[in-house]
Amino acid sequence: MKNLVEVSNLSFKYLDAQRWAIHGVDLGIGEGEIVVLAGQSGCGKSTLLRCMNGLIPHMYPGEYSGSITIGGDQVDKTPMRALAQKVGLLFQNPENQIFMFSVERDIAFGLENLGMPRDEMRRRVDEVMQRLGITQLALRAPHELSDGQKQRVALAGVLAMRPGLIILDEPTSLLDPQTASELVSLVRKLNEEEGLTFIIVEHRLELLAQLADRIVVMDSGKKVMEGTPQQVLSDPRAEAFGVSVPPVSQLYNRLTADGLGPRGYPFTPEELADEVNSP
Ligand SMILES: Nc1ncnc2c1ncn2[C@@H]1O[C@H](COP(=O)(O)OP(=O)(O)OP(=O)(O)O)[C@@H](O)[C@H]1O
Ligand SMILES: [Mg+2]
Repeated sequence: MKNLVEVSNLSFKYLDAQRWAIHGVDLGIGEGEIVVLAGQSGCGKSTLLRCMNGLIPHMYPGEYSGSITIGGDQVDKTPMRALAQKVGLLFQNPENQIFMFSVERDIAFGLENLGMPRDEMRRRVDEVMQRLGITQLALRAPHELSDGQKQRVALAGVLAMRPGLIILDEPTSLLDPQTASELVSLVRKLNEEEGLTFIIVEHRLELLAQLADRIVVMDSGKKVMEGTPQQVLSDPRAEAFGVSVPPVSQLYNRLTADGLGPRGYPFTPEELADEVNSP
């Protein structure tokens, strides 16, 4: 099957920057995949995401080379407006993404920009609010919502555009553990039921390792590791590249180094307990 996202030899240097923010990145992402992007602060994760939704090179000046295609369309040659219907980016801080008078106006914002007819817009906004369980918030002012609710409203605005690819840049960093795990469940549901593809920058790997098909690790603008969660989390280099290996994986790695297992790689304490208890 052809990849939904095809990054080849992509490099970008911000205007006046001394060094490349990303350099020679190759990456293919299949339709329906969930890919986690990890690596130290400043390694180029957000820059790569901006290249996917077209903010780079359309809005950020700089030096750009190589290519990236989404569903066959070359990003640098496709207008932002067209890209917005293929790729949705959810920022770390939803405050940057919601700003209107009411939740429903906010969700409709992107559709309004497309000049969508009112009744179609109404239908899409209602549908997406229902999908995310925020119908009761429709008339509330966004600034009076909780962080988790704001996050959902921002996500609703993205989903209303019906993109096949959703990009989340540290989506849980402002959320408490409970709300964060609800967001992760939502990602799972949207992936399973609607086949949406996700690229997620996230430090809390214990939340996502189970869900991810693949983890990609970057360092100094380059892709340095790529594999299944098991492959990456059991690789001794992972921590040096700033991947926060969940405690359960650390413990398992220690145990297997001492000759236990492996049967199934555990991502939760419960799975590790099963592994250790099985004869
Ligand atoms: N708007 C910008 N203008 C100039 N340089 C930038 C800009 N944004 C990022 N950079 C630089 O590009 C490099 C990659 O930054 P990027 O934001 O992509 O890293 P990141 O992996 O997302 O980091 P973090 O985990 O802290 O979010 C860094 O050296 C950073 O200083
Ligand atoms: Mg970032």
